[in-house]
Amino acid sequence: MTDILPAEADGSLERLAAAALWADAEDAPLVVRRLAGPPGDRVWTVLATPDRDGAVFASIGADGAGHIDLIAVDPAAQGRGIGRALVGAAEEWMRAHGAAEARFAGNPPCYAWPGIDVRYTPAACLAERLGYEQYRVAWNMTADLPARYDEAEHEADLAKLAAAGVTVAAAPVGERAAVAAFVREQWNDKWAWEAENATGLHYAFRNGAYRDEEILGFAAWGARPLWFGPMGTAPAARGLGVGRVLLRRCLAEQAAAGQTSAQIGWVGPLRFYSRAVGARAERVFWLYRRALG
Ligand SMILES: CC(C)(COP(=O)(O)OP(=O)(O)OC[C@H]1O[C@@H](n2cnc3c(N)ncnc32)[C@H](O)[C@@H]1OP(=O)(O)O)[C@@H](O)C(=O)NCCC(=O)NCCS
Repeated sequence: MTDILPAEADGSLERLAAAALWADAEDAPLVVRRLAGPPGDRVWTVLATPDRDGAVFASIGADGAGHIDLIAVDPAAQGRGIGRALVGAAEEWMRAHGAAEARFAGNPPCYAWPGIDVRYTPAACLAERLGYEQYRVAWNMTADLPARYDEAEHEADLAKLAAAGVTVAAAPVGERAAVAAFVREQWNDKWAWEAENATGLHYAFRNGAYRDEEILGFAAWGARPLWFGPMGTAPAARGLGVGRVLLRRCLAEQAAAGQTSAQIGWVGPLRFYSRAVGARAERVFWLYRRALG
């Protein structure tokens, strides 16, 4: 059997991921780098063949389950049992770290995909062949960039926000503590990590006394490289147009960075994204799991 050993997530793995992951060739190297820099308390590993023609990232989730975060075999080496051996090695590592269940599913907040993209059919076959069962479906939406929306509606949204004393602004790296605290308090630590690690972070606040801004909502992109999300508006501020305006700011920034489309990851409210920026449901992911005996 092929030796599968702990490895460095270096350039060779970035090239391997780009070669194997045909539907993600552009962002695969960025995803490898992202998975190699998860939250500090995450238990994770990367295992690879000696020739670096196959690799698997695995981690333990907050509930103790094991996750296969990314698996890739070089196209020239596929069909020879490497994929099967990688899953076996990942499962052994998971067992050694106390996991009673293994999943082909994203481990938020630092993930590559929600599950197996249905178009990576050999990966779905591999999971099923090894006794995994499909337990959930997830999907992304796609917004073409520049985003399409009604300019008059957008102007009306901005005017409504101004009249309500609401300002929207970017939170650059190094100045994200207040927004991250808002996200943690309103939602959870996972979204707060994504906000802190996003490429772009925008937020809305109501002007208060000096240094007493009331934050109402946020939107982020690039925590999962090149994807939009997460975003959220505090319940009391919903219906003002805060979410629409923040979403469009992020997408404008993604367009300015050269992206011709943006994936809205692991959604979520179809109708909101469909109406706000003409996004369509597109990628579908199957989440798989099996008990580790
Ligand atoms: C999925 C992948 C890792 C499998 O690696 P591999 O080394 O080719 O797999 P193996 O030779 O060990 O085959 C193991 C099983 O995978 C499945 N499989 C492999 N190639 C397949 C193909 N062309 N079509 C259908 N199933 C296939 C089969 O179930 C196979 O076992 P079986 O033939 O006994 O049924 C590889 O195809 C790959 O790197 N794909 C691109 C990356 C990817 O999709 N990653 C998952 C993203 S979520």
